[in-house]
Amino acid sequence: MNIAVIGSGGREHAIIKSLKKSPLADRIYALPGNGGMAGDAECVPVGAKDIPAIVEFCTREKIDYCVVAPDDPLVLGAVDALEDAGIACFGPRKRAAVIEGSKAFAKGLMTRYGIPTARYADFDDEAAAVSYIDSLPEGNVVVKADGLALGKGVILASSRAEAKAAVHSMMAEKQFGDSGSRVVIEEFLTGPEVSVLAFTDGENIAPMVSSMDHKRALDGDRGLNTGGMGTVAPNPYYTDEIADECMRRIFLPTVRAMKAEGRPFKGCLYFGLMLTADGPKVIEYNCRFGDPETQVVLPLLKSDLLTVMLACTEGRLRPEDVVFEDGAACCVIVASEGYPASYKTGFEIEIAGTDCEIFIAGAKLSEGRLMTSGGRVLGVTATAPTLSEAVKKAYAGVDKVRFTGAYHRSDIGARALAAADGR
Ligand code: AMP
Ligand code: GLY
Repeated sequence: MNIAVIGSGGREHAIIKSLKKSPLADRIYALPGNGGMAGDAECVPVGAKDIPAIVEFCTREKIDYCVVAPDDPLVLGAVDALEDAGIACFGPRKRAAVIEGSKAFAKGLMTRYGIPTARYADFDDEAAAVSYIDSLPEGNVVVKADGLALGKGVILASSRAEAKAAVHSMMAEKQFGDSGSRVVIEEFLTGPEVSVLAFTDGENIAPMVSSMDHKRALDGDRGLNTGGMGTVAPNPYYTDEIADECMRRIFLPTVRAMKAEGRPFKGCLYFGLMLTADGPKVIEYNCRFGDPETQVVLPLLKSDLLTVMLACTEGRLRPEDVVFEDGAACCVIVASEGYPASYKTGFEIEIAGTDCEIFIAGAKLSEGRLMTSGGRVLGVTATAPTLSEAVKKAYAGVDKVRFTGAYHRSDIGARALAAADGR
């Protein structure tokens, strides 16, 4: 099969490396990919949001299967356009991608079907939002832009005044453009967070190994929120008992709810969960693989990724066919110093021999040399029988990566190891 993968980050590199192992895979193209993936896929300069150009390329090159990885093209209807042109895809159609594309939709769905989540209200009028905030007790409140906002549309306000300021910048000042025309205001929850990615064919669901993201820029979960500075899998907080409860109360009900609403979801459904004192609750849904969760989850997948993806597309997913290794994985992101605020790029990247997997995100080839071109430059993933070995091995891999201004957190996995020790 000739395959196209849409997207350009570390997640896409991990997907491509897994697909490459499949006996069913022939040529693999990345649209647009990045210079660091050039050894694993043919990079084609077509933007991930340029849907007409994607369809044109896939038709012309007789692509048999297209994996649409990022949120933007999914929410914009890339799968609809490709399928309508006769190209089979991995990923949800637009009607189903709305589960990430509109937080108000996702909250409404959970409310209608009794899926546990934070209490909330949503507004398309600033004055109404403000008077609702005034009706809440003084303290923490969460304000979310309804639409996609590059992962920045969630404000954890610590007072009513801060919450109102967040509403104002979203609704009146259009900080996130149209994405903030509607806002969701919700109760602040506490507890460990768990990411669970799941394959689904619209009816059956096969959760992958759980993982833990590290969103803040600095050690000790301090500093600005980022796209993710590292991940570990499995997540030690996510016990078998909790997994069973999530399956019964969250995963199956979500897939059934989407089907009942005439929005069958096929692809990878991402559950961002918080394990609260009242049980697991949904913090967010994403309509796609997480980044950098994918970089620890797929290296542990024993089954053939392409076979599993095709089963999702063709509505014949058998959860028992999705099998993971017993071991653990750790991914440490190496970023450009200053990320997620301002940073410099254009430095040469040197990678010495390592037994880790390197997933390149923000790099380009310039006269045969790999140069930094983004905030998150690459991820170093190690797998090992235990989490502590995986963490150690990943950091040994990080030491083999050099570029000017390279920055990484030094405590990826520390909290997971402490939690595992505590039991
Ligand atoms: P999101 O962009 O939806 O992933 O949200 C970013 C982060 O904000 C999440 O990973 C949580 O840490 C936090 N968050 C979102 N919603 C809530 C909530 N209701 N209570 C507490 N923290 C939240
Ligand atoms: N790592 C969080 C996300 O992909 O949204």
